[in-house]
Amino acid sequence: MVSRKITSVDDLSLKEISSIVNKALRFKKSTNQKKTNKPKNIFNLFLEASTRTTISFELASKKLGHNVINVNFEKSSLSKGETFNDTMDTLISMKPDALIIRDKNNFSPHEIYQKHKIPILNAGDGTNEHPTQALLDLCVIKSIFKDKKIKIGICGDIKHSRVAHSNIKLLSKLNHEIHIIAPNYFLDKKELTKINRKLVFHKSLSKLPKLDVIMMLRVQKERISKNAKSYMNSFKKDFCLNLNHLKNQPYLMHPGPVNRNIEIDSKVLDSYSKSLILRQVDMGVYLRMACLDFILK
Ligand code: CP
Repeated sequence: MVSRKITSVDDLSLKEISSIVNKALRFKKSTNQKKTNKPKNIFNLFLEASTRTTISFELASKKLGHNVINVNFEKSSLSKGETFNDTMDTLISMKPDALIIRDKNNFSPHEIYQKHKIPILNAGDGTNEHPTQALLDLCVIKSIFKDKKIKIGICGDIKHSRVAHSNIKLLSKLNHEIHIIAPNYFLDKKELTKINRKLVFHKSLSKLPKLDVIMMLRVQKERISKNAKSYMNSFKKDFCLNLNHLKNQPYLMHPGPVNRNIEIDSKVLDSYSKSLILRQVDMGVYLRMACLDFILK
């Protein structure tokens, strides 16, 4: 049997997306989650910092009754000079049933899958994709808007954001109307229009059409090679979301972590009643349970 993977939104058909999202929403409603009587060994491999994704995958695995092995890379033999590939070969020799991987290098989950053909979930690879974040965002949208086609604005450091890339792919597949709001230095328009020719581009947060949702994204300072601070300051001056930008009362999303007062004004973060940010975190657990079920089938 072919091992299943979610290394990109492109790995999933519309039917599979719908099935995963509906299962996550059922997990969220369920008050009596049964644990499996065939527990699997899930290796959690996070080579970049994470709070939401790593903890939610661990919690999701445990709620389903699986065994979780969190690999501490700072204390692993990578720190003694073992190569990434040798470390992967070593870990896979212990026969995990599935891998969850976050890495700074684009496409590394895909490459591991190609070599080892093991069930795998991409928990974020460099600037490429973060498919489980996009799927959980879709669950939150669906829990509010059901099957309505929504108008969503995605604003921020689109160029370096794996969350943006997965969300644009996923929302485009489902024919939602997507507005991209970003300065030129955080945008690769040519790449984005390859995903969806109908994207609408804006250079400012003022004069936007009435949106159902605005999704702000983190400025990925660790991925900006030069002058990260000056880009942060410039972005903050022109794009930091404040209460004036929210007069039409869209729902507010952000994958986290937030750079307070860079992408979103603290007053908005602390008081805006239509913020979905913590709901996104909560949904992450149920969506990741559904993704684990999908790859372990
Ligand atoms: N949204 C997200 O991936 O957050 P973490 O980096 O905390 O996992």
